[in-house]
Amino acid sequence: MSSIAQEVARRRTFGIISHPDAGKTTLTEKLLYFSGAIQMAGTVKGKKTGKFATSDWMEIEKQRGISVASSVMQFDYREHVINLLDTPGHKDFSEDTYRVLTAVDSALMVIDAAKGVEEQTIKLLNVCRLRATPIVTFMNKYDREVRDSLELLDEVEDVLKIQCAPITWPIGMGKTFRGVYHILNDEILLFSPGEDKNVDDVEVIKGIDNPRLDELFPLEIEQTRMELELVRGASHPFDLQAFLAGTQTPVFFGSAINNFGVREILNALIDWAPAPQHRDATARDVKPDEEKFSGFVFKIQANMDPKHRDRIAFLRVCSGKFERGMKMKHLRLDRDVAANSVVTFMASSREQVEEAYAGDIIGVPNHGNIQIGDSFSEGEKLAFTGIPYFAPELFRTVRIKNPLKVKQLLKGLQQLGEEGAVQVFKPLSGADMILGAVGVLQYEVVKSRLENEYGVDAVFENCVIHSARWVSCEDSRMLADFEKNLILNLARDAADNLTYLAPNRVNLQLAEERWPKVRFHATREHS
Ligand code: G4P
Repeated sequence: MSSIAQEVARRRTFGIISHPDAGKTTLTEKLLYFSGAIQMAGTVKGKKTGKFATSDWMEIEKQRGISVASSVMQFDYREHVINLLDTPGHKDFSEDTYRVLTAVDSALMVIDAAKGVEEQTIKLLNVCRLRATPIVTFMNKYDREVRDSLELLDEVEDVLKIQCAPITWPIGMGKTFRGVYHILNDEILLFSPGEDKNVDDVEVIKGIDNPRLDELFPLEIEQTRMELELVRGASHPFDLQAFLAGTQTPVFFGSAINNFGVREILNALIDWAPAPQHRDATARDVKPDEEKFSGFVFKIQANMDPKHRDRIAFLRVCSGKFERGMKMKHLRLDRDVAANSVVTFMASSREQVEEAYAGDIIGVPNHGNIQIGDSFSEGEKLAFTGIPYFAPELFRTVRIKNPLKVKQLLKGLQQLGEEGAVQVFKPLSGADMILGAVGVLQYEVVKSRLENEYGVDAVFENCVIHSARWVSCEDSRMLADFEKNLILNLARDAADNLTYLAPNRVNLQLAEERWPKVRFHATREHS
């Protein structure tokens, strides 16, 4: 095996998908803790204080005013290199959250077992499905009163349309949570509460029929044995191929806040989740262990500090070896970019990593000449595909206070649209420009950037648009007819694609029914 192939084989790149408050931040912290990347619990979870102490990004952040600390966390575990990509939730939920998932090879789905499958999880899982991304599931918060475990599995299968293969099974819950039974290893991992337990603190009892269990917690173990009968009958045995195909998810139970069940997830990611995969480019399929470097940009993080106009482009390496100081070609602009100031991401130390391989993420500072979807290589014309724009769900019209600034507004919107900060639609009927987003924060970002970077004071107003669909039709006469008839609902996006803007769900359904030959797309590829 070449040294590049060896480096690729030991890499795992994944993101966490969850609804807000399911425990993503807590689990992230525990994953870093287990791997030894951080020493103490309580260092990552800075959501409420706004601080991320594990970051070696403090300097860069101070210099550039860009918060990149929690965007990518790289750490080692069992001689593997793990890249954990943050999927911003809460008020940071945006198109970035979706697009991050196009840069991972697997995902960890965290479900609050008291609540079950929630709205954001459904959305994120649908994005994973676009690339058949393998999913590991963690049912969290068993130290609380939660829902019936079998019912939870049913709900995942029903709502998310993915087979569940329980790997562990909970024994009790809430005050009587005793631990989990590891179905594949036939052993019981005993639960003891406590946030700062030593990582090797879990006591293990071999065998579900071990009489010690009847002495320790007769009621709960009897109940668990009965449930396991049902589980064996009703659920699916773990099938690695089905997991890799994205049709089955191994399910683990535990309590993130108590460090319980976390190690099993890390092991599953290492033992079962795929190493960086090949990627489609328009020219050809690119294999991760090829000699030559290549990669694509899936996220741009802009600086909110008006003194620093820098942006960081997050680039996923797809093949070869990145080395500091190497020249890489920005293929859209056909221009070399010196990679001296490129940054890499380590959760544990301040050391700058000098090389990166497929699956790793590097950050390229730039002044706005990099867009989402841009491809880089050592020269070969490779345009990576599969970095989609997602149909926005929130819409606002844009007006400006000073009409003399209309040119600046259009320029700003064009650039912010191309960069992927927000989607910009120009109605065919000539009405006000419309901005589309998937998270409200995107509007705040755009407003402040228009002000700082383009000197435009813009006002956003609600509008009656419910959803957007990109439209296409092979029959050009029919498309022209469609355009003529529905001109009031049609717009062009920043890349000039025709888009149908529906005022409500029923209207969209009717349009689809009335124009069966016209296709309505919920995503579009970067062009
Ligand atoms: P998020 O990033 O997915 O939004 O979730 P986060 O980790 O912030 O967790 C949301 C809340 O759930 C937090 O409580 C956290 O402590 C709690 N939590 C996470 N894992 C567990 C668990 O295994 N058991 C229990 N009982 N709670 C858990 P909070 O009150 O919102 O915040 P805090 O005051 O604890 O910081």
